[in-house]
Amino acid sequence: MGFPKDFLWGSASAAFQIEGAYNEDGKGLGIWDALSEGHIRLGATGNVACDHYHRYKEDVAIMKELGLKSYRFSISWPRVIPKEGVINEKGLAFYKDLVKELTEAGIEPMVTLFHWNLPMWMHEKGGWLNPQVADYFAEYAKVVVTALSDKVKYWMTINEPQLFAGAGYVDGGHAPFLKMPAMFGKITRNIMLAHGKAVKVIRENALLTPMVGMAPTGSAVIPKSDSAEDLEQARFETYEGDGPNGNAWWADPICLGILPEGLKKEISAEDLKIIHQPLDFYGFNIYTAQNFWTQDPKQNPALYDGMPRTGFDWAIKPESIYYAAKFHYERYGLPIIITENGMSNPDFVMLDGKVHDPQRIDYIHRYLLQLKRAVDEGVKVIGYQYWSILDNMEWTEGYERRFGLVHVDYQTLKRTIKDSGYFYAEVIKTNGENL
Ligand code: FCB
Repeated sequence: MGFPKDFLWGSASAAFQIEGAYNEDGKGLGIWDALSEGHIRLGATGNVACDHYHRYKEDVAIMKELGLKSYRFSISWPRVIPKEGVINEKGLAFYKDLVKELTEAGIEPMVTLFHWNLPMWMHEKGGWLNPQVADYFAEYAKVVVTALSDKVKYWMTINEPQLFAGAGYVDGGHAPFLKMPAMFGKITRNIMLAHGKAVKVIRENALLTPMVGMAPTGSAVIPKSDSAEDLEQARFETYEGDGPNGNAWWADPICLGILPEGLKKEISAEDLKIIHQPLDFYGFNIYTAQNFWTQDPKQNPALYDGMPRTGFDWAIKPESIYYAAKFHYERYGLPIIITENGMSNPDFVMLDGKVHDPQRIDYIHRYLLQLKRAVDEGVKVIGYQYWSILDNMEWTEGYERRFGLVHVDYQTLKRTIKDSGYFYAEVIKTNGENL
């Protein structure tokens, strides 16, 4: 069977991680701009990052050279709304230009409205702890949709709610670096309401008929064997095993209108009506399998010292993408878009001026074979976004974790397409038939 012929082959990025220009043309500060000091490896900042804000034309030309059919990127909320109630036309103009450049290159733009860099003005009003955040987010969504929906069809409301809620407000590992585990239920509610309200706003205001989803993470559990019991166990663990960080906690209310036990006292029937909006696809960010997340072999007998891992130490588990697609399709019945998948590797420009990254080629190859397996079995998968198009600012890890198809020299900002970029170009050209 193989991949459908209009498959959304693409690559992804996020505003804070690539744009730079953190205080230019009227941009306001976000929590990652203003609060990161002392939290990021070697004191790195996103102030310049890949300087994509000034180099987007070069970057889109590279995407075109690679033959990307689509590109997933995020809008910086503080660039568009730098202060409460203020629209920054120059910020919006940047995204209009980017979208124009993409569509002229024949690349489908796929927009994420929130990829973690909350405006400071919103943070100062309580951020995700303040129930009003949902209305502020919906207003922002309306501004963006009004500006871009003559060319943008694909929308994702929020990237990885479980990650920024957990890391940002429970364990303090991500901006705004807070530790308030008791507030997790409230934050969940506010994020879900923001999602639901934004979906309504997109549908009410979009010029092109929109395709709307979100980009949660979580992972899939690989069953111990093919037996019916082990499969059932893996399903259960994939959906519910991780509690508030898991898939069902977020996706059951959003996609099915069903509340997990732990949210029943937090979310009312009224809320649920807002949260449970019809979606057009199920986006999913996946890197490894849930039963392989821990890095410590002592905690998990399935892990062993010296097993295949990425530069980030994440176990390489290609079957995870197969089970993620299959299990989520079974439960939510929506077409699947893999909104992120990729690996970090300590790449550098070699003596011949090229970046040879056979590990990444092999990673992409193996994961895509498993995705194809799902497609061949009838799972409706409509897109795959490799994370990331460019090496970039990996949050608290700074610049060391290179995920890109394109190498960025952070001293000169020179871009070099890696071998994996050319490999992926071939995959796209043959619609996966070369795998
Ligand atoms: C995901 C994030 C993305 C990037 C990758 C490696 O959790 O959405 O921004 O950091 O991991």
